[in-house]
Parts: sequence; C-alpha cells; structure tokens
Amino acid sequence: MADYKCENVKPYDESKGKKEQVEQMFDAIADNYDPMNRLMSLGNDKAWRREAIDSLKGVAPKRILDVATGTGDLAIMANERLRPDSVVGIDISEGMLNVGRKKIADMGLDGVIELRVGDSTALEFADGSFDAVTVAFGVRNFESLAKGLSEMCRVLRPGGVAAILELSEPSNWFFKLGYKFYTKVVIPVFAKLLSKDTQAYVYLPQSIEAFPQGEEMKALLKDCGFSDVKVRTFTFGTCSFYYAKK
Ligand SMILES: C[S@@+](CC[C@H](N)C(=O)[O-])C[C@H]1O[C@@H](n2cnc3c(N)ncnc32)[C@H](O)[C@@H]1O
Repeated sequence: MADYKCENVKPYDESKGKKEQVEQMFDAIADNYDPMNRLMSLGNDKAWRREAIDSLKGVAPKRILDVATGTGDLAIMANERLRPDSVVGIDISEGMLNVGRKKIADMGLDGVIELRVGDSTALEFADGSFDAVTVAFGVRNFESLAKGLSEMCRVLRPGGVAAILELSEPSNWFFKLGYKFYTKVVIPVFAKLLSKDTQAYVYLPQSIEAFPQGEEMKALLKDCGFSDVKVRTFTFGTCSFYYAKK
C-alpha cells in the first residue's frame, strides 16, 4: 500500500509498478527531454537549479551525489559552480543517462562527472559517502518517497546537506488558476509538438498535484532523518526548494 498519494500516481495503467512505468516513460521522452524542459518551464529551470546549487556553496562539498540525475543538467551545474572533486549521478533510465553522458563527453568532463544506472530508493553507496546530495524534479517519481529520502540521508556524511528541487502548485488562488490553465491546456500542446509520449505530460501535473508540499514535505524530511529543514518557493510557487541537513 502506498504511504503517499503521489506513489499511486503512475504514468500509464495499473498493470506495472510505478518504478517500471517511470523508467519506461523517461526512456521514451529522453531525446526531447531537455528542450521540452526548457520550453515548459519557460527557461526558469536553469535559474531554479542555480539557486539549489548555490545554496551549497557554504558547505563546499567535495563529493556530490545527484539523485535522479536524468540528462545530468544539475550534475553539470554542480561541477561548474562548486568545483568538487567528483560528482556521481544516478538514474533508473538508461535513455536519460545516455543523453547526459553525451553532453558530459562533449564538454570533456568524463573524468569528473560519472553517470550510473541506480535506484534512488536502494542506493549502492556506503553510509556517509557524500558531502552533498542533490535532486531536481525527481522525488515526485519515486515509488517509495520515504525510502528515497531516507537513502539520501543515509549516504550523506553527518553535517552534509541535501538540496531538493520539486515542481509544486501555487498556493495563491489567482496564480493557481493560471498554473492550472498552463499545465492542462498549454503543456499538452507543447507535448503534441515536441514529445513522443503525450501521456508523460498528463502524468506531470497529476504527480505534482499529489506530491506533499511545504510543511508536509518538511515534516517528511525530518521523519527521514534530516534536521534544520528549510523551504523556499520560486516563480509564483511553481517550484519548491528544500534544504535539509543531516
Ligand atoms: C523529471 S526528470 C529530472 C531529471 C534531472 N534531475 C533534471 O533536473 O532535469 C526525473 C528523473 O528521475 C528519474 N527517476 C525516477 N525514479 C527514480 C528512482 N527511483 N531512482 C533513480 N532515478 C529515478 C527518472 O528516470 C528521470 O530521469
């Protein structure tokens, strides 16, 4: 049984588990994921990632894990802005990772950023392996949200920091109205034009709506072992950023 509503929201039918369906969906949309991401967020995704990465400057992390790294944009930005010794990105979708690996190779960053297949809810790293763990727009897709967050906490060293970005719904009714129009009317048009899998962009607003936001997510992070949890929102509340210490 699912612990959180978002765990019941799946891209396709009910026949397979959420993890399998999510992997299948991201494999299907991988080639157009980056342009679609830029278009849908109206270019804001880069600024949101920058805020998340810059929040880690005080920690000066040397070893960074980027969970649900996808095509590697956050891992690449972490390397550019924080100059760590190493960045490891893990993801369940080989299709997304292949797009990311190509970008990293083209930038000559193979030696610094490594992308590997891995499940966020069962990380293959020892306790305390990283100074910082990041994740952008990934946690909403976990089959078990609490397991994924607990694993992120486990692999952090004591005093290490998690920086979590996730899409959210504005709480102000006026902005929420605009958001609903944008996600239910405009995004499906973009998806028809650019993506091979329009269902993926039906799943997107459904999974955002079902995801715990604000105080609820802060409480969950504390239950999963984090302390000193802070939340900020960006762009009328359409993106939430959680900063949590181990
Ligand atoms: C919306 S994309 C975000 C990609 C990237 N972080 C970004 O900023 O663009 C979500 C990613 O989460 C990955 N994902 C979902 N569940 C996962 C899990 N349990 N373990 C690892 N990756 C997962 C998907 O395969 C997908 O690449």
